[in-house]
Amino acid sequence: MEHVKRYSSKRLTVNGTELLLEGPVPAERLAAMRFDEGLKAFRIPEEQQKALVEIASLPEGRIVLAREADLVLGYVTFLYPDPMERWSEAKLPDLLELGAIEVSQRIRAGGVAKALLEVSFSDDAMEDYIVITTEYYWHWDLKGTGLDVWQYRKVMEKVMGSVGMVWMATDDPEICSHPANCLMARIGKRVPPESIAAFDAMRFHNRYLF
Ligand SMILES: CC(C)(COP(=O)(O)OP(=O)(O)OC[C@H]1O[C@@H](n2cnc3c(N)ncnc32)[C@H](O)[C@@H]1OP(=O)(O)O)[C@@H](O)C(=O)NCCC(=O)NCCS
Repeated sequence: MEHVKRYSSKRLTVNGTELLLEGPVPAERLAAMRFDEGLKAFRIPEEQQKALVEIASLPEGRIVLAREADLVLGYVTFLYPDPMERWSEAKLPDLLELGAIEVSQRIRAGGVAKALLEVSFSDDAMEDYIVITTEYYWHWDLKGTGLDVWQYRKVMEKVMGSVGMVWMATDDPEICSHPANCLMARIGKRVPPESIAAFDAMRFHNRYLF
């Protein structure tokens, strides 16, 4: 499958910070930027920048970011699912995982996460993919936001729902291990029925239970 990546951008001002949201951004441009110290939900900012540069250089990888000049304050990643996870079992060329979305604390709750997804899905090429996100509460910044798991789950539903990602049932043990965890997905308009059927088969390993 050819992975078409069409650049688009949008401006947004949050708490007096003028942001440019743009992407997909090429690896070499991402490597030349700086990462805000508030981007520490998953790794220290320098390590996260390296990980994102690697994703941007993958054929299917996409990074859409929010920056103030050359300072990155938010990003979202799309790439093939981890080979260790069930979502890569069928090796679907048209299934991408929204791997992470993060917005620096000082500009949170200002619509940046939703705008990052708006820019991401403004590329018509996204209609050729099933995009999934696996939401595990242990990845959430409960401490930094002061939200409980259900309030945080609501935020994630609003963010993901803004681009048409919807909750989907699965018997994946990690997802089922806590009721706030969930699988969400968006099936692009041009995704063929065979890919949808293969995705449905991956969602349930124990069909006899249903
Ligand atoms: C989750 C996260 C990306 C949200 O980013 P954000 O830019 O603050 O999100 P938005 O401003 O677009 O908010 C989306 C909605 O949630 C609401 N919201 C966001 N933060 C909120 C908070 N702390 N309390 C209440 N509502 C909140 C917004 O008001 C908005 O609601 P609306 O759709 O009714 O307008 C951000 O909190 C973050 O980076 N967290 C750490 C990393 C993480 O947990 N990522 C998710 C797992 S990969």
